[in-house]
Formats: sequence, structure tokens, C-alpha cells
Amino acid sequence: MHSFGYRANAVLAFSVTILALICGIASFSDNFNSPSPDAQVRVLNINWFRKKPDGNDEVSLTLNISANLESLFTWNTKQVFVFLAAEYKTPKNALNQVSLWDGIIPSKEKAKIRIHTTNKYRFIDQGSNLRGKDFNLTLHWHVMPKTGKMLRDNLVMSGFRLPEAYR
Ligand SMILES: *[C@@H]1O[C@H](CO)[C@@H](O)[C@H](O)[C@H]1NC(C)=O
Ligand SMILES: *[C@@H]1O[C@H](CO)[C@@H](O)[C@H](O)[C@H]1NC(C)=O
Repeated sequence: MHSFGYRANAVLAFSVTILALICGIASFSDNFNSPSPDAQVRVLNINWFRKKPDGNDEVSLTLNISANLESLFTWNTKQVFVFLAAEYKTPKNALNQVSLWDGIIPSKEKAKIRIHTTNKYRFIDQGSNLRGKDFNLTLHWHVMPKTGKMLRDNLVMSGFRLPEAYR
């Protein structure tokens, strides 16, 4: 009775419904994955620390970053974007956030990181607030799924402190 066109249409509508259902289950099942990444960052050296001619403080650090982000990966994970930020308070701002390093992790097999590096992006304060400053190093991650919404979270490592004097 039904024309070929009508049937093809029905089949298409059915498979679109199934696909939507699978995508829904995929992103829903991600909610049950409670990842437990771990990370350690050590400041191995303060390479230099100065007040720039414009009056803003700048510091160069050598960092040892190690992290295991394998638990962020599920079969629905496309890739993970990570960045390490120095975070500190100043009289003007409750949170200053300076990105020092970032990377893209393409797969679970690459999710154990061991990096020994100087800061990839400049650590500059908008002022001269860095002497003797306590700061946190926070590893932030954005999990980009194949389907569903992006998840972001972070791990705070506290107890870092810059020297009292320029060097
Ligand atoms: C970097 O950190 C890892 C893990 O904490 C450690 O095994 C390694 O010895 C560190 N490297 C340096 C140069 O401190
Ligand atoms: C640094 O971390 C500590 C402990 O987690 C937290 O209390 C503090 O607010 C953090 N500082 C900044 C500037 O985010």
C-alpha cells in the first residue's frame, strides 16, 4: 500500500530516533562516571623574578607537572583540554588567574602526563603584587565529549609562595 518514498521516510525517522536515543544514553551514562584524576606540580626553580619597565611583576618558573587523567576518558570522550593556572588574590581582585601551560590530550593512552617545562605563557601580574605572594596552582580540564555537553572541573594545589625579593 505504502509508496517506497513513504517507507524510506519512516525508516529514516526511525533511525534518527534511535540515534538520538543512543546519543542521549551516551551523555547520560557519562554522568555516572565519577572521574578521580590526580596531579602533582612542583616548582623546581624560580628562573628569574623582576619588575618590568611598565611596573608589572613577571616571574619565570620551571615546573614539574605530573598527572593521571585516564579516568576522565570514557568511550564518549573526544579529547580533553587541560591548563595549569597560577591563582592568587590581590587587593583589587579576589581571583587573579594566569595560565602557565596548556595541552590537549587526544586519548586515554596519552592521559598520563609528565612534563618538565618553564611556563609556556608569561606569568605577569597586572601590578607589582607578586613579591612574597602565596598562590595556588590549579589544573583545569574541559572534557569534550563526542556527544552531549562539555564537562569542566579542576584540582587545586595550594601552598606555593613567590620569593620576597626580585632576583
Ligand atoms: C617530577 O615529578 C615526578 C612525580 O612526582 C617525580 O617522579 C620526578 O622525580 C620529578 N622530577 C624532578 C626533576 O623533580
Ligand atoms: C587556594 O587554595 C586554598 C585551599 O584550597 C583556598 O582556600 C584559596 O581560596 C585558594 N586561593 C585562591 C586565590 O583561589
